[in-house]
Parts: sequence; structure tokens; C-alpha cells
Amino acid sequence: MIRHCALGLALTGSSCPATAAPAAAPTAALPTANFAPIQSGLDYHSFANVEQFRVIRVDLDLRVDSAAKVLRGGVGLQIKRLDPGATELILDTRDLNVTDVMQKAQGVLGATSKSETTWVSRPYHFQRKDKILGSALVIELPPSKRPSEFIKIDYETSPTASALQWLSAKQTAGKRKPFLFTQSEPIGTRSWIPLQDTPQVRVTYTATIRTDSDVLAVMSAKNLNGMGRPAKRNGEYSFVMPEAIPPYLIALAVGDLAFKETGPRTGVYAEKPMVKGAAKEFADTESMIQSSEKIFGPYRWDRYDILVLPPSFPMGGMENPRLSFITPTAIAGDKSLVSVIAHELAHSWSGNLVSNATWRDLWLNEGFTDYMESRIINAVYGERREMMERVLGLRSLRDDLAKLEPADQVLAIDLRDRDPGQVFSTVPYEKGRLFLTFLDAKFGRERFDAFLRGYFDHFAFQSITTEQFLQYLQENLLDRFAGVVTRDQVMSWISGPGIPPDAVLPVSDAFAPVDEARSAWVSGRVAAKKLDTHDWVAQQWLYFLENMPASLSAAQLKDLDQAFGFTRTANAVIGHSWFVLVIRNNYQPGYARLEEYLETIGRRRLVAPLYEELMKTPAGATQAKRVYALARPGYHAMTAAAIDAIVNPSESSETSDE
Ligand code: BES
Ligand code: ZN
Repeated sequence: MIRHCALGLALTGSSCPATAAPAAAPTAALPTANFAPIQSGLDYHSFANVEQFRVIRVDLDLRVDSAAKVLRGGVGLQIKRLDPGATELILDTRDLNVTDVMQKAQGVLGATSKSETTWVSRPYHFQRKDKILGSALVIELPPSKRPSEFIKIDYETSPTASALQWLSAKQTAGKRKPFLFTQSEPIGTRSWIPLQDTPQVRVTYTATIRTDSDVLAVMSAKNLNGMGRPAKRNGEYSFVMPEAIPPYLIALAVGDLAFKETGPRTGVYAEKPMVKGAAKEFADTESMIQSSEKIFGPYRWDRYDILVLPPSFPMGGMENPRLSFITPTAIAGDKSLVSVIAHELAHSWSGNLVSNATWRDLWLNEGFTDYMESRIINAVYGERREMMERVLGLRSLRDDLAKLEPADQVLAIDLRDRDPGQVFSTVPYEKGRLFLTFLDAKFGRERFDAFLRGYFDHFAFQSITTEQFLQYLQENLLDRFAGVVTRDQVMSWISGPGIPPDAVLPVSDAFAPVDEARSAWVSGRVAAKKLDTHDWVAQQWLYFLENMPASLSAAQLKDLDQAFGFTRTANAVIGHSWFVLVIRNNYQPGYARLEEYLETIGRRRLVAPLYEELMKTPAGATQAKRVYALARPGYHAMTAAAIDAIVNPSESSETSDE
């Protein structure tokens, strides 16, 4: 397997050249067993030569062709030149059809004369495609002392672009118009924009998006047509993102969207049939923002809108700035799943304001965010809700740890030669949350909150490595309040496996009656409909289901289903937990609805475990393959890749080059 360095060189040796380390990155290197040491700050998932050039601004002009399933147009890149002698600009791409690459010619030097822009085509070529990383686009440029270069690339995306999902009108809720959305994190942006697709560069962007005149385009940016409010539909939409963001946060959706305001700076976009319910479900968003601002400092992105996607959206949510993308499965009707909103909102600080520099540092995004999500849930819905959710989170962490190699149980994970979009576990999330909870408990709320606010200020609009965080932590907590937590303790959280023994684990007394009820029912003492569940909330139902004994009889499942209607539940997360039991115990009356579920919902975290469960028996495997054949065309590439690996593991090796 070829390893890639930030210089854009593909080396067959075991290490990258010393010069490949980005200048700004600190030097600490963590050794691993089977490789050369990881270079902190070196993005192993990008070909871009970021120490020679840095893209600082992106200007998109794209036409959305839903019939052909392509985006067509051009991108202008403003690029800071760091090395006057550099003659190759290397960009990340994946399956792009590039038709021209131009460089802005040197302007006419003359104080008064208006210099005319002339564009000169430049030679370019693609390097061999890597299955995970795509193809490096190498653009030849003459050496120059200019501080900036301006490049224009004409191109078209492929109908199978990995970040894009094109839905037919039939696959939408409204059934009237096709729908397009992007899910670019972590390395999908290159499949629809040629650029330096690494979170360590930050870009501002503008965009003109041309569509059919009766659909609406939205982006992770300020909407220029509507002065921040939704534009009139006319098929041409302009956006500007004035803050510098990592490229994985550039996002686009196009469809038959309606908008409903939920507060002075918040609102919901969704397909028309969904928008009213969504606005009701997410009515607490403004109060979540206010709670966040009190703890973490000002919200720096002006508006916070929510886009509710069709059910095939592969994530629970995605923190695209100014416009979180949210799965419709977060709408349960009782606000029980709105921690997804708290989570994506929290990313406005951890992730979008301060971003991970490489995917190894993802825990800086997700661990901080999970911790902050808990704080927001506590502030808006109270401690009882917070604790229940944290206990459930801890349980999923333990389940994951039981399945993972020790090397993959660490916060700062070695992702070399792997697809960072497919190495997905709760470790960066839940272990990260436990780590920050530990620091919070040790240093005390007041000191820890001051530390967090200082951290967001200090690194605002920067992308940082785990080592930069560690240094900041050392100076601002460990050294400042000496004797509270040792460096060794911290390092066992960052690079040790499992849950460190000094963790402060959540407990919830809300689950005691649930355990009692379950025991009474399992032992046969009490029938399901006689259980006192009248005041249970969704988290208690999840806890009830997730802690069932390994095997249950058909009669037992029938008793549960008749009493509580799990097969038909409107809460997709409870449905998920129920269908795990349905499959594990081969409960036939649940299967018809299970198939519907798998064919409509594309949220990876909800469907992948169900396919895994099915694959455990030969009959289940046959069924998984049959259902998957029907469901796969409706899944986003990210979900499809995950399910391919579960259902057809031998055919979906990620490790070889194409
Ligand atoms: N940023 C993530 C989604 C992500 C992470 C995409 C890594 C690709 C690579 C987003 O904020 C997220 O964490 N979503 C969660 C939901 C959340 C409530 C835990 C998800 O989709 O499961
Ligand atoms: Zn997240």
C-alpha cells in the first residue's frame, strides 16, 4: 500500500520526508507498533502541498443538473504562495472531470491603469487514483514571488461523487422535486470541489448556485438573496461565508424546501410536509444557543438554522456552519432526541471555531462537542435528562471498546491507510466526553469553564492538533493549578486504551425503576401491560430495551410489542433498539416493518448495527443481502460503504489502490 505525505509524494517507504511536516505543527510524535512515528499535524488523508501553497478563498459557480446528477461549472481559488520556488500546486480531487485549469496572469503594473484580468491555461495532470484518497490534481505553475495565486478550474462532478446524494422526487417526502445534499466530512469535499481537502487549511467562500427555478438552494453560509432569510425561488442563489472554515464544512442542499422561523436568529428548513413538525420539535434552539453562550462565549456565526434532510441522510447531524444538517429521525414528536441539535450547535465552538487539524485529532471536535452537548442538555432540560443520556452513551462506549483493538481505543487514533469516514466508533465521542468530564471534576466547574472559554478564544478560527491542545492544557490547567492532575494521567486518556480508572462515570437514578420493571417482566412475575411505565421518557425506554437478556422467546416479544407497540414506534432510535431484539430473537412479526425501516432510513448509526445483527445467522445473512439489494440505491455513499463492509466483507476491501 502506498503511503501519502502532505507534499503530495506517494512513497513506498515507511516514512515521509521531514520537510513534509507543516511548518506550524508542533513536533511531538507518538510511536506506533507497526509504522514509523505519526507526524503530528501531517494530514495523511490529503495530497495537498500545504507548506508551499495554502488555499484561502473559494469562489464556486455551479449549476445543479438533477437529471444528469452532476454539478457543472467552475471554482476560483485564491492561494497564498508560501514558497516562491514551488512549481506544482497539488489539489485533492475524487472522480472530477476537469476541463480547464487557468491562472490569473500577472496584472499590469501601473498605479492608475485598470489592470485587465487575463487567464492563462496551465498544464495539469492527475496522479493515479487511491481508493481512499482519490486523485491528486497536479497543476504546473511558474515560480513566482507573488504572495497570492488565483486559479480557476472548470469541472464537472461524477454522478457517483462520494459526498453527494441525488434523490429522485419519489425518494423525497413531498414527491414533487428531486433533492440533492452533500455530506463532506471527513474527506468528501474533494468529490465536488477540487481544493486542498484538509482541515488544516481554512477558507472563506462565496457561491453562486444555479438550479431549476422552482427549487431552493441552501448552503453553510450567509444567504445573499434573502438577507439571511430564505431567498425567493428563482433558480439563482448567492452565498458568502465570511469566516474561514475548514473545507469539510462547505455544504449544499437543493430541494423543494420551505422555511419556518423558530426565533430571532434561528429557523428550520425542511421539505414542506415536514417543516411545521420540525419547527415545533426544535423550538428550543434559541434557548440552547443562549445557554451555550453563557458557558462557552459568544456565538460567532450570526444565524443558526437547521436543515431537516430526507431520511437517507447518513448522519444523525452534521455541523455545517450557520446551517446544521439534521436527520429527520431526530424528530420523535416529544423533543426526546433533540440532543442531536445540542450536539451540532456545540460544534459552533468545538469543531467550527476550533477545528481538528487532521482526522487523528477528531476527538478534539467530537469529544469536546459531546461534553458541551451534555452541558447544554443540562441547562435546558435538567440534570436528570443529562445523566440518562450520559449513561446510555457510556454503555455504547463499552460496547464499542469490547469490539475494538487496543490501538483503536485511544483518543488520538492512527488512521493511516484507512478511510477516516469508515473508521467510526464512539471512542472520540464518549471517551472524549469522559476525559473533559474528568478535567471538569478535578479542576472544578469555575476553573474549567474559564479554561474552555480561554481555549475557544485562543484558538478561534484555527485548526489544531492534539499536541497543541496538550500544550495549552499543560500551561493553562496542569501548571497553573499544580498538583491536581498529572501529565501521565492526561496521557493515559489520550493514548491509552480503555476507560482510565480515574474516570468520573455518570449514574442515573432514573434507571432504577426501569431495571426493576424489566426484572419483574423477565422473571414472568408481571405481564408487560401491567408494568408501571406511564411516566417513562424515551431514554428510559432505550435503557429498558438495551439491557434485555441475550435471548427472549417469541411469546415474550409479542407481550412487549402488544403492550408498547415497539414495531410501530414513531421514535426511530427506540425502533432501532427494538429491531436489534427482533433480529436477535428471530421475532417474525417484526420483520416486515424492519424491512421498511432499512429501506427508508439511511442513517448509518441506526442501520449498520441491524445489518450486523442479521449477518450473525445464515438465514439472517440471506435476508440482509436481499433487503440491502433493495435499500442500497437509496443510501448515501457513506452508509453504502459501511453496509458493503458488513454484508459483503470480502468484496469491499478498503486497503488496495484502484
Ligand atoms: N461531525 C459529526 C459527523 C461526522 C463525524 C461525519 C466524523 C464524518 C466523520 C456530527 O457532528 C456527529 O457527530 N453526528 C452524530 C450525531 C451526534 C448526536 C452524536 C452522528 O451522526 O451520529
Ligand atoms: Zn459531532
